[in-house]
Amino acid sequence: MKKNIIPAVLLTIMIACNPKHADKDAMIDKKVDSVLSKMTLEEKIGQMNQYSVQWNPTGPVSIRKNDLDDIKHGKVGSMLNCTGIEYATRYQKMAVDSSRLHIPMIFGYDVIHGYKTTFPIPLATACSWDMELIEKGERVSATEAAADGVNWTFAPMVDIAHDARWGRVIEGAGEDPFLGSQIAAARVRGFQGKDLADTNSIVACIKHFAAYGAPEGGRDYNTVDMSERMLREIYLPPYKAAVDAGAGTVMSSFNEISGIPTTSDKWLLTDLLKKEWGFKGFVVSDWGSVGEIINHGVAENREEAAMLSANAGLDMEMESGTYRDYLAILVKSGKVSEHVIDDAVRRILRIKFKLGLFDNPYRFMNPERKKKIIFCKEHLEVARDAARKSIVLLKNDKSLLPLSKKIKSIVVIGPLGESARDMLGNWEASGDPSRVITLVAGLQNNLGNKVKIKYIKGCDVKGNNKAEFPQAIAAARKADVVLLAMGEKASMSGENQSRAFLNIPGVQEDLMKKIVETGKPVVLLLFNGRPLTINWEKENIPAILECWFPGIEAGNAIADVLFGDYNPSAKLVITFPYTVGQVPIYYNHKNSGKPYIKGFQWGSRYNDVTNEPLYCFGYGLSYTHFDYSGITLRDTVISMKDTLQVSVEIKNTGHYEGEEIAQLYIRDLVASVTRPVKELKGFQKIMLKPGESKHVKFAVTENDLRFWNKDMKFVAEPGKFQVFVGTNSQNVKESEFWLK
Ligand code: NOJ
Repeated sequence: MKKNIIPAVLLTIMIACNPKHADKDAMIDKKVDSVLSKMTLEEKIGQMNQYSVQWNPTGPVSIRKNDLDDIKHGKVGSMLNCTGIEYATRYQKMAVDSSRLHIPMIFGYDVIHGYKTTFPIPLATACSWDMELIEKGERVSATEAAADGVNWTFAPMVDIAHDARWGRVIEGAGEDPFLGSQIAAARVRGFQGKDLADTNSIVACIKHFAAYGAPEGGRDYNTVDMSERMLREIYLPPYKAAVDAGAGTVMSSFNEISGIPTTSDKWLLTDLLKKEWGFKGFVVSDWGSVGEIINHGVAENREEAAMLSANAGLDMEMESGTYRDYLAILVKSGKVSEHVIDDAVRRILRIKFKLGLFDNPYRFMNPERKKKIIFCKEHLEVARDAARKSIVLLKNDKSLLPLSKKIKSIVVIGPLGESARDMLGNWEASGDPSRVITLVAGLQNNLGNKVKIKYIKGCDVKGNNKAEFPQAIAAARKADVVLLAMGEKASMSGENQSRAFLNIPGVQEDLMKKIVETGKPVVLLLFNGRPLTINWEKENIPAILECWFPGIEAGNAIADVLFGDYNPSAKLVITFPYTVGQVPIYYNHKNSGKPYIKGFQWGSRYNDVTNEPLYCFGYGLSYTHFDYSGITLRDTVISMKDTLQVSVEIKNTGHYEGEEIAQLYIRDLVASVTRPVKELKGFQKIMLKPGESKHVKFAVTENDLRFWNKDMKFVAEPGKFQVFVGTNSQNVKESEFWLK
């Protein structure tokens, strides 16, 4: 919430300026220098190597037999995918006991939305717009991972995305840089806690630096070409916010930006990240991405790839082994200076010291703590709360929802009604399908045996098999309410899971049509990792809940929402298109010279589909109704030093207590460069009882009005602005003010 950022930012500044922290940092730097001064070149290069111990979805593992010897000789700085106390202890022992300087390794893992207690996918929790909840969720993940040998997560992914075809939208916070920045910072705070030295803290890794969310055609790993202005205004802010929140590490991305692979981009990794932003942590490559510079076509061979990346400021190499094989030769031939190596190693050792690994290399391997906290009641409760606060009510005709607990019978139809594995979503870390509360199980938990609950799969997620249709239709006819559990399989989004079509796959829609024909009340529960083109569903199904992949407590959380134990409050953080042909589609687009106006033939438009989204950014319904008054501005003219005070009155005019996320947008009407038609600059989540009203106040300062102007200066320009406040990016009240 906007009101929370000030304390969060202040806290970061206070921590950085705190003399205690400064002293601690200076002490750590001294220790780092002392270790560094004892290291041979080979040992230093060793710190820059990271190996995986097992198969990874990204590709085959390149670990060789003598890698184990490398660990013993201090030539491996980090391992990934080495999870579990036993495993991690075994490797850590090799490094600490056998190597000359006893330098511990750091163990990384993709803890993306939970370690064992699986949370909803990150795209879903972002829809809660609830920074406290998001931070709390990552605290839980960090606590569990930290007890089981993991000390470094490759998260949060903070890539902005405008293209639902890209399968990794599942891992991000959607399309908006303002909201994305706050979520990025909240996740970093959650993972890292107050101090990396605490036993429950793990170091965060912001990824994928940078603009990985903008591949051409929405195809993963593909080319990115964009202006520096677009990069700085839309794509970079969440990374910057995460750096400011103290993120310890950054991962370079697989893509190129405008001709330069990010892994070997000196401007990006050194000039911008380390110098302009003052990042003190270290940069790790993505899986094998140093070697991939050869495929990109800017290095002739692995030696050149190593040289370009090291000189660009890429501190640690994940998996491709070019540093291991060539850095020493490159230093000896003068192509990479030893200063570059020293800087990288200093950064890596600094994080190891901060994590307390030098004091106790095994402090992350704690069987008692693990036993006590993994899947503990408190963690499951946070996961359940996160899941219900992530579910977006897309449609609720004639207030079909919430359902009464007095109904006699429910039939659940669809391939996702009992699929435990799919509820976890992709990147489920060490999540355990056997612990998942499926939809059917959640209904049973909530309703007991007072209501008859029947489940029929009806069809698969993909494929053409309609054999179970008759059974499903017959069951629907007999039930009071039909719940359709449909959407994508978890494996259909995530890394390299781009789709060219955004429909609900297979024959699921055919089955839905048959069920709707029965005339029974139907609720669609959608499970998916990206926006889908659900036009038919929007037209024909009376109630739709976007459940995403809700995690371990899926069924309990959905039942809470279905029966009104929780009134849905989530709002979309990514636009839903009518058709894939509208993609990329996002709310904060530019106006163009020929904006579309109804009836004007030459406005920018499609001749076969509207420009409008199916569901816009910020959209989401509640079981109650919120009325917004007009906007009141304390002043209509402000100076660069003033704060614009914007207020609206919001009244709950419905019958349920509920939370509303009020959103503030601005538009800079005339500037030295074109500006978006709307930009989110504030939001507040408030709770209102039926009949209750609240005055909601927003503060807008000159800082919120800044952009990269025609001379690439980050400034606010005087002139006229529009300000909008409303329940989503389209349904808003409007006013205007001047900045002088
Ligand atoms: C490749 C993915 O792009 C990245 O997000 C992940 O952290 C690494 N593999 C390690 O698993």
